[in-house]
Amino acid sequence: MIKVAVCGAYGKMGQEVCLAVENAGDMELAAKIDIQGDAYRTIEEAKKSVDFDVLVDFTQPKSIYENALYCLNNGIKVVIGTTGLKDDEIANLKSLSEKNMTGCLIAPNFSTGAVLMMMFSQMASKYFDNAEIIELHHNQKKDAPSGTAIKTALMMSQAKESFKKGNCPETETVKGSRGGTSYSDIQIHSVRMPGFMASQEVIFGSAGQTFKIRHDSTDRKCYMDGVLLAVRHVIKENDFVYGLENLLK
Ligand SMILES: NC(=O)c1ccc[n+]([C@@H]2O[C@H](COP(=O)([O-])OP(=O)(O)OC[C@H]3O[C@@H](n4cnc5c(N)ncnc54)[C@H](O)[C@@H]3O)[C@@H](O)[C@H]2O)c1
Repeated sequence: MIKVAVCGAYGKMGQEVCLAVENAGDMELAAKIDIQGDAYRTIEEAKKSVDFDVLVDFTQPKSIYENALYCLNNGIKVVIGTTGLKDDEIANLKSLSEKNMTGCLIAPNFSTGAVLMMMFSQMASKYFDNAEIIELHHNQKKDAPSGTAIKTALMMSQAKESFKKGNCPETETVKGSRGGTSYSDIQIHSVRMPGFMASQEVIFGSAGQTFKIRHDSTDRKCYMDGVLLAVRHVIKENDFVYGLENLLK
């Protein structure tokens, strides 16, 4: 049995992860960690009382780097769903994971549909000079743009060095109306409002045509197969992985 600790156990994602772990035949929910509710307050506190093989983190952008550093410095394999990590932080976690030979998997999105959206967007990038990303989330989301949008842009940038921003000199009459510029000059637009859970549309354009790739998450259950796959992976391979697409190949 794989003993799993869930950090952020009382959050929207954490609660689903606890249920998924409890229902998985090869896993056991060893510890709940959260700054609220009836749970261990920190990873350190939990580790002193119970034994676990892997920690799954769905907390918040301002905690995730410290949580991940703690795990990798203390031989705790970690699966990270929390978004908001910066490029240099991801690079540091990769070095630490490899140096200490402690498994670490970071996935900005654990749903297979969203991962396929990213892979298809990377494929389409070769054939279009213009592309922009619109991501739409619930209004409790703390980071913008979403980790999924950033990862999509990164994967697209591996297929094309730079995208056109438009086709003529532009003036922004209202600041921010053209969104934020990401990898390969891809514009990302973030929408936050009640009614959405997590959606993203990648729009490609060329003369006389547009091509849209869209994914909608309608229930947090869509992430759970990916989370369980990631847990099984870090236990077995003990390596560093950034992106669930690396496990779907
Ligand atoms: N990778 C994915 O597929 C995916 C999918 C959905 C959401 N997310 C990300 O997961 C994160 C959590 O999302 P959510 O909607 O569940 O948020 P949430 O606010 O509902 O839950 C976060 C939980 O973490 C707890 N928490 C915060 N800081 C903590 C700390 N330092 N230690 C322990 N617990 C702490 C909070 O008390 C809360 O219970 C966000 O970053 C979100 O963007 C990722």
